[in-house]
Order: sequence, then structure tokens, then C-alpha cells
Amino acid sequence: GTVLGIEGTAWNLSAAIVNEKDVIAEVSDMYRPPIGGIHPREAAQHHAKYASYVVKGVLEEARQKGVDASNIDAISFSQGPGLGACLRTVATVARMLAISLDVPLVGVNHCLAHVEVGRWKTPATDPVTLYVSGANSQVLAYRMGRYRVFGETLDIGLGNAFDKFARSAGLGHPGGPQIEQFAKNASNYIPLPYVVKGMDLSFSGLSTAATAALKDHSMEDVCYSFQETAFAMVVEVTERALAHTGKNEVLLAGGVGANARLREMLDIMCNERGANFYVPEKRFMGDNGAMIAYLGLLMYDSGNVIDVENSHVNPNFRPDDVDVTWISRDFE
Ligand code: ATP
Ligand code: FE2
Repeated sequence: GTVLGIEGTAWNLSAAIVNEKDVIAEVSDMYRPPIGGIHPREAAQHHAKYASYVVKGVLEEARQKGVDASNIDAISFSQGPGLGACLRTVATVARMLAISLDVPLVGVNHCLAHVEVGRWKTPATDPVTLYVSGANSQVLAYRMGRYRVFGETLDIGLGNAFDKFARSAGLGHPGGPQIEQFAKNASNYIPLPYVVKGMDLSFSGLSTAATAALKDHSMEDVCYSFQETAFAMVVEVTERALAHTGKNEVLLAGGVGANARLREMLDIMCNERGANFYVPEKRFMGDNGAMIAYLGLLMYDSGNVIDVENSHVNPNFRPDDVDVTWISRDFE
């Protein structure tokens, strides 16, 4: 099959056309806030403004490869989680496309799209996935017909914790890459609050404590200590999910996954446990249209489509609410 999918849960608007083999075309346009963080209404206005650019662009790119609109079997879109105004804008575009091409509509859970694109584009088959982005931080694994959430943040995502700190420290947005650079030149570890509650995580207090630590310590030492503490927390929960499920693969997903130190810490943990560690190519780590089109394809192939009348978005859409129709029972 061939599916056109649209992502737009937050800052990145991205449309892609995929089939079972590969990504045929992808066109994206990123909303860049003038200052500070993301303003939901402005991001949604951006998505409305650039919707025709990404949709026409992806159709044109596909046409040059011999795939035209009449070859598209379904339209998929990010149904959530994400910013309500952004989700509604993208859903409207997806509905219009499905109606005008007269093909089924597929509502995709954004978190699961990160997992499935990783399974597609790495050798991982049945991994524990650590998904760490701006708004999300979750440890997920498949079990009996669902992707279960083994641990997750109780407040903000790890990327947002980095961004919040960066903003109050007077660094630009996004914070993660800059924190990573400063951390490389640190000389001391400063103890910061390590908050793992059961299998869940909390980053808000850690971000605030890191900001406060700047009064007495260098930017380098604070960035390093912030990273070491936060990454030790997510690695601990990932390791416990491995132990609990008996799985032997770890997949990294989300924008924070670009961080080399996080990858190193996960790699060490996996080596010690005899597990395999997989990181997709950078274009499939952050938010991208290809992952929405690809999970859309898996869902379409397994009959998991929705009516336009019942295609409302869900800003708090949980991955464990999704009935996983695209994985066969014998997988368990
Ligand atoms: P989602 O909607 O899934 O929450 P998002 O809009 O936050 O996604 P992503 O690209 O997945 O987008 O993640 C962006 C986040 O990743 C930002 O918070 C940014 O600070 C963080 N980030 C990017 N690069 C790095 C890095 N090298 N180290 C740490 N964090 C990073
Ligand atoms: Fe994401």
C-alpha cells in the first residue's frame, strides 16, 4: 500500500508518502518561535499557512518518482498527543484530503509512530523504547496486544526541562544541544535532585535546581550535572523495563536522542546486560511525517481506519489506549 501521512503535533509540520519498502517523499516546514518557547496558537497558524506547501510539495516529489495521487490508499495524521490547536489544524487538512481522494482516514498515535519507525528503520524487532522529546518522556514496550507504558514523566518532558533551564540561563532555544556542548567542558559533578518514583520520572524540580545552581557554579558544571542526573534517571527506568519484560533490545526515539552522552550511557547499560541498542537515523528520531505515514500504513493494512465523523483529535492521547492491530498475536 501507499499512504500519505501528516505530522503536526508541535513545531514541525511534515507530510510524507511511504510504502512498505521506503519513504517515497517527505516535505517539512518547521515553525520557529521568534523568542522563547512554542506558542500553541502561532504554531497552529504556521501549520495552516504551510499546509498547502507541504501537501503539494510531497505530492509533486512523489509524482517525480512515478507515484501520483491516484496511487494513495489512505491518509494518516497525528491524532495526539500534542498541542490542541496544532492537532486540529492538521486533522482538518487530513480529512479534506481523505474526502477529496476518496480514501480511508487513519488516526495515528504520535508516540507509537516513533516506536514503529524505529522498528522499521533499525534491526530492532521487539524493543523497550525510550522516547524522550520536548513534551514527552516515556518507556514503552509491546505486551499482549498493546504498547504498555512502563514509566513516564509525571510533569514535563526531558527536552522541555532542558529548554526551560536554557531559557532562564539566557541561552537560546532549543536548550538541549547547547547544554550538551557546555557539558563537554565540565570539571565537577554537582549533586542535583534525582527523582524516580516507582517507574516514573520527574524533571521539573531538577530543571529548577539546575537554574539555582548557576549562582555558585559554572555553566559547564551545571550543564554536565543536569545531563548526568537526568540521563541516569531515564537509563535506570529503561533498564528496569528490560529486566521486567525480559526483552533484549533497546530503541531510542525523540529529539533528546540526538545527545551523544545519552547514547553512550544507554549503550553501556545495554552492553552490561547483553542487550542490543538501536538508534535510527537522525531524520527518523525527531518528529517527522514519515513515521506518521508508516504507522498509518500498518494500521490501514490491518483494517484500522476511522470515519471522518469520528476523527476528533486527542491532546492527551495515550499510546496504551491503542489496540495494536498491526502486530500478530504470535509475536508475543
Ligand atoms: P514531541 O512533540 O514528540 O514532544 P518535540 O516537538 O519536542 O517533540 P523533538 O524534535 O522530538 O520535538 O525534540 C525536541 C527536543 O529535543 C527539544 O526540547 C531539544 O532541546 C531536545 N534536544 C535536541 N537536541 C538535543 C541534544 N543534543 N541533547 C539534548 N536534548 C536535545
Ligand atoms: Fe515526538
